[in-house]
Amino acid sequence: MAQDRVFFFDTTLRDGEQSPGCSMTQAEKLIMAHALDDLGVDILEAGFAIASEGDFAAIQAVAKEVRRPRIASLSRARREDIERAAAALEPADRSRIHIFLASSDIHLEYKLKIGREEALEQAHKAVALARTYVDEVEFSPEDSTRTNIDFLCKIVQVAIEAGATTINMPDTVGYTIPDEYRQMFRTVRERVPGADKVVFSAHCHNDLGLAVANSLAAIEGGARQVECTINGIGERAGNAALEEIAAALMVRENHFQKQHGLKLEKLYPVSQQLAQIISFGPSPNKAIVGGNAFAHEAGIHQHGVLSNPLTYEIMTPESVGVPSNRMVLGKHSGRHALRSRLLALGYDLNAEDLDAAYHAFTELADRKKAVYDLDLINLVAHHKRHADLIAAETVGEA
Ligand code: KIV
Ligand code: ZN
Repeated sequence: MAQDRVFFFDTTLRDGEQSPGCSMTQAEKLIMAHALDDLGVDILEAGFAIASEGDFAAIQAVAKEVRRPRIASLSRARREDIERAAAALEPADRSRIHIFLASSDIHLEYKLKIGREEALEQAHKAVALARTYVDEVEFSPEDSTRTNIDFLCKIVQVAIEAGATTINMPDTVGYTIPDEYRQMFRTVRERVPGADKVVFSAHCHNDLGLAVANSLAAIEGGARQVECTINGIGERAGNAALEEIAAALMVRENHFQKQHGLKLEKLYPVSQQLAQIISFGPSPNKAIVGGNAFAHEAGIHQHGVLSNPLTYEIMTPESVGVPSNRMVLGKHSGRHALRSRLLALGYDLNAEDLDAAYHAFTELADRKKAVYDLDLINLVAHHKRHADLIAAETVGEA
């Protein structure tokens, strides 16, 4: 098993979607799933099949349409959840059931009201049952970072014996710190028999602003999969931001020496796509994809960047898909400028669609001082929805 490859497990459509202001319709999930496929994620967690009819249908639709990444559904360690996940994933070529079960004493006592022995039994049964449906089963001892380390090793061992292929050790409440998380991975990998046969995974929440740092520390501790979301959306303070982990692996390749399958130049377009779908975008000072991430205001910085961008930029904007062309689009801008900006954002429109987009753009530019990338993405999405509607009506009439 190649040790120098990190797998990106995207959970924007599950953990990300679970947070306020981030819910998505099935059609929106499909748009995002295609964008994540283009970005190159390895595993795409499309939802939690038993959570609702909508989630079930969305996972099924993603499993039907998006063929390259492995499609995953979340599931509790219960028969009905596992059966529902397996049914939703049925159309996928490659699928994974992701089972979670609390392992910390506080969760066992107050949430599940069961003891450790019962948890071990449930973990074993659930993983073994899931393996009868799919060839990849991921097991997550929920709240791993507040779990007694001996018990954590025990439950991981039971899950591996039952057939788990990936072991994810989530920092469910965003409590851990990098040294501790790195060591946790080392300890479990050293102590548990069969650990060398599975992929270990990190899943971090950002309650202390450490989700990305912890994910990178986990990689140093031997994690070969990272679970993350676009723009870091997710429960409470969010999940680890995919674009930040990916950029860190690129900029500090000398340190991490890890390969992955992402096309980094898609990071900004995907971030903007998500912002267009949910009710908010990344804050201006957000690393990698925020509006100011490559902006230089101070004179000394501007001077440095003009003589050599590397004086104040550790990566080029283009390397993460941020259009380097800082021309502001406004009502005096022409069709060429619009086309080149749309291309940079990942939209290669044919002549007819470009005409329509240009027409809508000039109307917008008349009303607004400056037209930003997000406006353009909205504009193209609106035009596409309109065209799809007309196409659907034409098919209906025929
Ligand atoms: O944060 C968490 O523990 C989770 C699990 C379901 C993996 O999202
Ligand atoms: Zn989570």
